[in-house]
Amino acid sequence: MKKQLIGNWKMHKTVQEATDFMEQLSLQIKNLELSGIHLSIAPAFIHLFPLHQLTALSPSIRLIAQNCHHEKEGAFTGEVSAAMLASTGIEGVLIGHSERRAYQQEDHGILVKKIKSVLAAGMSPIFCCGEQWADRAQGNHEVILQQQLSLPDLTEVALKKLIIAYEPVWAIGSGKVATVEVIAATHSYIRELLRDRYGSLGENVPILYGGSCNEENARDIFACSHVAGGLIGNASLQVDRFIKIIHALLNSK
Ligand code: PGA
Repeated sequence: MKKQLIGNWKMHKTVQEATDFMEQLSLQIKNLELSGIHLSIAPAFIHLFPLHQLTALSPSIRLIAQNCHHEKEGAFTGEVSAAMLASTGIEGVLIGHSERRAYQQEDHGILVKKIKSVLAAGMSPIFCCGEQWADRAQGNHEVILQQQLSLPDLTEVALKKLIIAYEPVWAIGSGKVATVEVIAATHSYIRELLRDRYGSLGENVPILYGGSCNEENARDIFACSHVAGGLIGNASLQVDRFIKIIHALLNSK
C-alpha cells in the first residue's frame, strides 16, 4: 500500500500564491525519490486547472478537490460535479470533511451519494471521519465512527480507490493533536471496521491521520500502526513546513 500525504489548503491562497507554492514545491522535491508515496494538494476549485497544468511538469504532485456535488450536472448554481472535476485531470475528492459536515450540514446520505459520484467519475474518494470531543470524553467515539463508516457495497475496483482519513474534530486546527496511543488504537479500530465490512479487501484501504499534524509530530504519528500517511491543514500552507512532513513520511517504515 502506497503511503499518502495530502495538503488540505481549505479556503486559503490567491491564484498567485498557489502558483508560487507549487513552483517552489516542485523545485524542492525535484531530487527526492517519491515513488513510494502519493503526494497531493487539495486546493480551492479555482486552482485545480491552472495547478494541474503546472504539475504536469512535476508529475509526482497530484491534485485533489475539497468537495463536489453528488449530481452529474443540472441546475445547482455554485456547485461543481465529480465529472467536471475529473475533466480537469485531478485524482480524487475529499468527502465528508468535518467542516463541511458542520457548516454545510452534509449528512450521511449525501456523503454516500458523493462517494458514488466520485467513483463513477473514476477518481478516489478520500472519506473523512472523526468524533467530537464530547463523544471521545464519553467513550462514544467508536459508535460514532461505526455510524460514519457504514459505507455502501463497493466493488473491488472501487475499494482500491477508497481512502479513509481519520480526523478527530477536536484536533482539527486546534493545535491539540491526538496522542499516539489514541491514534494507534483508533486506526486499528477503523481497520477492524473495514475488515468486517469488506473482508480481506478492507485490509488494503489506506487510513490517513489528520488533525494538527505538523513538522514536529509527523514522524511519531506516521510510525503508528495502520497510519498510511496524513491529511494536513495548516502545516501544508507553507512549503518549508510541508517539505519537512514529506521527509517524515519518506523516512517512516
Ligand atoms: P489541521 O487540519 O492540520 O489544520 O488540523 C486538518 C484538516 O482539517 O484536514
